[in-house]
Amino acid sequence: MGVFKALAFAALAVAVPVEERAKKPQSFLKDLGNSTWVIGNEIWNVTQNRQYANKLFYKGGDRVGNAVGHYVSYNGAASDLNWTSAAVADSGNDWINVKFTANEGDFHWVIYDDLPGAYQYFVNHALPTLGEFRTLWRLDNTSFSRGRTNVKDGVLPPLEEYRSAINVQDETWQKADGTYLTKYDWSGNVRDMDFHGVYGDEVGSWYLNPGKDYFNGDQLKQELMVHRESQTGDAVQLNMIHGTHYQAISRDAFADGKVWGPWLWYLNDGSKDDAAKRAQEEEEAWPYKWFDDKEYQSRGKMQGKLVLSDGRPAAGAAVFLGDNNNSTISTLDQGKGYYYTTYADEDGKFDIHDIRTGTYALYAWGNGDSIADVTTNFTQNDVVIKPGKNTNLKELTWKVTDTKNRIFQIGAFDRKTDGFALSGPTPFEHARISKCPANLTYTMGKSQTSDWCFGQALNGTWNINFPVKTAPSDSKLTVSLAGFSQGTSATILLNGVQVGNITSASLVNSQDTYRGATRNGEWRLLEFAVAKEGLKMGENRIDVGVEKATQWRGWLWDSIVLERL
Ligand SMILES: *[C@@H]1O[C@H](CO)[C@@H](O)[C@H](O)[C@H]1NC(C)=O
Ligand SMILES: *[C@@H]1O[C@H](CO)[C@@H](O)[C@H](O)[C@H]1NC(C)=O
Ligand SMILES: *[C@@H]1O[C@H](CO)[C@@H](O)[C@H](O)[C@H]1NC(C)=O
Ligand SMILES: *[C@@H]1O[C@H](CO)[C@@H](O)[C@H](O)[C@H]1NC(C)=O
Ligand SMILES: *[C@@H]1O[C@H](CO)[C@@H](O)[C@H](O)[C@H]1NC(C)=O
Ligand SMILES: *[C@@H]1O[C@H](CO)[C@@H](O)[C@H](O)[C@H]1NC(C)=O
Ligand SMILES: *[C@@H]1O[C@H](CO)[C@@H](O)[C@H](O)[C@H]1NC(C)=O
Ligand SMILES: *[C@@H]1O[C@H](CO)[C@@H](O)[C@H](O)[C@H]1NC(C)=O
Ligand SMILES: *[C@@H]1O[C@H](CO)[C@@H](O)[C@H](O)[C@H]1NC(C)=O
Ligand SMILES: *[C@@H]1O[C@H](CO)[C@@H](O)[C@H](O)[C@H]1NC(C)=O
Repeated sequence: MGVFKALAFAALAVAVPVEERAKKPQSFLKDLGNSTWVIGNEIWNVTQNRQYANKLFYKGGDRVGNAVGHYVSYNGAASDLNWTSAAVADSGNDWINVKFTANEGDFHWVIYDDLPGAYQYFVNHALPTLGEFRTLWRLDNTSFSRGRTNVKDGVLPPLEEYRSAINVQDETWQKADGTYLTKYDWSGNVRDMDFHGVYGDEVGSWYLNPGKDYFNGDQLKQELMVHRESQTGDAVQLNMIHGTHYQAISRDAFADGKVWGPWLWYLNDGSKDDAAKRAQEEEEAWPYKWFDDKEYQSRGKMQGKLVLSDGRPAAGAAVFLGDNNNSTISTLDQGKGYYYTTYADEDGKFDIHDIRTGTYALYAWGNGDSIADVTTNFTQNDVVIKPGKNTNLKELTWKVTDTKNRIFQIGAFDRKTDGFALSGPTPFEHARISKCPANLTYTMGKSQTSDWCFGQALNGTWNINFPVKTAPSDSKLTVSLAGFSQGTSATILLNGVQVGNITSASLVNSQDTYRGATRNGEWRLLEFAVAKEGLKMGENRIDVGVEKATQWRGWLWDSIVLERL
């Protein structure tokens, strides 16, 4: 496919009439010397300095103003890239591709004459092993008073409100009325994001990221999207192309040549409808035919059908195409390469198009509904994607445990808190976890899934009363957590005897519960052996007793399952 495109391009180039070729783009790069350049077109322009780009002229005003402007950085604010040179790397009749070079790699702005905004991408050459890598705009807070993600839309709380509130933790303040201000409200699921940005009555500035294959992580990957900068008051629009905000590790070393993007940074009059329409158009145009990069253009597709070993279709399963031959790294923590996600249909069938050529592993896990009981996952290594070809994996068998052996299960096994008390309506809310009770009793046969709460963070004990109806046998207790923040620990007792624990000693911190994640953070699976002597005929009880609690820290529940081996 990629090869055909390249040939078609070459043929076109030859056929272009002379007068067309002679046409010069209006878009420009002006070198002002002393590491200062102006780029743009007749619609907008911005001044790039050694580190930051400011003076963004658009619709009659400077839209950066006193704010910091545009930059590219890794591992927090400590490492903002410094641009050592700029050049027009390529151009056509009506566009230029401006390349800014730093020691770590090249940042490109592809500027079309009639485009309010630019396509942007980064080519790695020497980035260090890192967790966070981002591009962002810090913009004028009068022009851009509001923020929009696919989960939240509204006024960015004024800096004034922060100044009169008390800082209670990492970027979180409590106001006099008891409510909280936190930038983490403005987070979202990166792979579900249609468009996000900041806007006001005159202007809007948006990120449209079609394809999304350069992002780290799986379907559950969340990131901060926009926020009010709590020191300066800037309106911040983030493009977290490799992030760690709701994760424990996710540190990656990147190959020379890894490309993030292109995405579209889009300016308009502040209309969300227009941004939504443009996002749709970009999605349809992806992968971009104009992007002259052999590896980017070389893509194939894949299809298959997942069937559970008990004969059921893997209906709605989450399907992830990621790092090959690496069972030591979770799908959420993968991030050095390119990643593709989809969900199986009701028959377990799935397909993914426009996958970069290469060798991947296919991973799948249950996403609730008719396979909410499935506690295992599926992995197939060595899935080879060839240019212009369809890789048909045909029928894949996913080994599951026999549901006849299940003594009890609370909650769908889907890596999310869905179904539990207080799990909605929004996926982020600071301190909601403290509203779950300290003590809770769940009785099999009487209680409903919605009687269990989404997260546990308070000193107290959650009991599960359940009957054993036939002679006990050796069993397994599976504790599936949708997230975990260090600082709170529990002991798990069966009929008064310890069988397991949830503890910071064995689980790393994924910074989720205290950053207000209520649907999921980083998934953890704990499995504990239960000897038949621990169980008895008739009534039994499990206690999940918190022994040490730290405010807003604890875990998000996915599911808890007891089954005979
Ligand atoms: C060059 O830039 C530096 C820092 O941006 C500034 O301090 C210096 O005055 C500039 N020099 C000239 C000649 O403009
Ligand atoms: C940038 O835009 C401003 C406002 O339209 C204009 O005054 C200025 O000349 C432009 N800069 C360049 C280098 O074209
Ligand atoms: C860029 O330069 C500044 C000094 O002006 C320095 O503090 C910063 O660490 C540099 N960035 C990187 C990535 O080295
Ligand atoms: C905008 O930023 C300025 C500082 O440049 C700050 O004084 C002001 O409070 C901010 N406005 C809002 C609405 O946060
Ligand atoms: C992945 O591992 C399998 C089994 O160890 C091996 O046969 C295969 O060659 C590996 N694939 C790659 C691309 O290294
Ligand atoms: C698995 O991935 C991690 C993180 O990228 C890496 O450190 C490790 O070497 C990989 N293991 C194998 C066997 O490739
Ligand atoms: C699959 O499940 C096992 C436990 O059964 C777990 O250790 C592993 O991390 C899971 N793999 C993936 C890719 O989710
Ligand atoms: C939870 O139960 C324990 C033991 O019965 C009790 O001491 C504690 O006060 C209860 N906590 C709350 C908040 O009711
Ligand atoms: C806690 O559980 C882990 C397994 O998840 C186990 O290795 C450890 O020994 C347990 N610690 C205690 C104190 O029970
Ligand atoms: C939980 O109880 C322990 C003592 O058992 C106490 O030290 C701790 O402060 C309590 N934490 C909270 C959040 O109440």
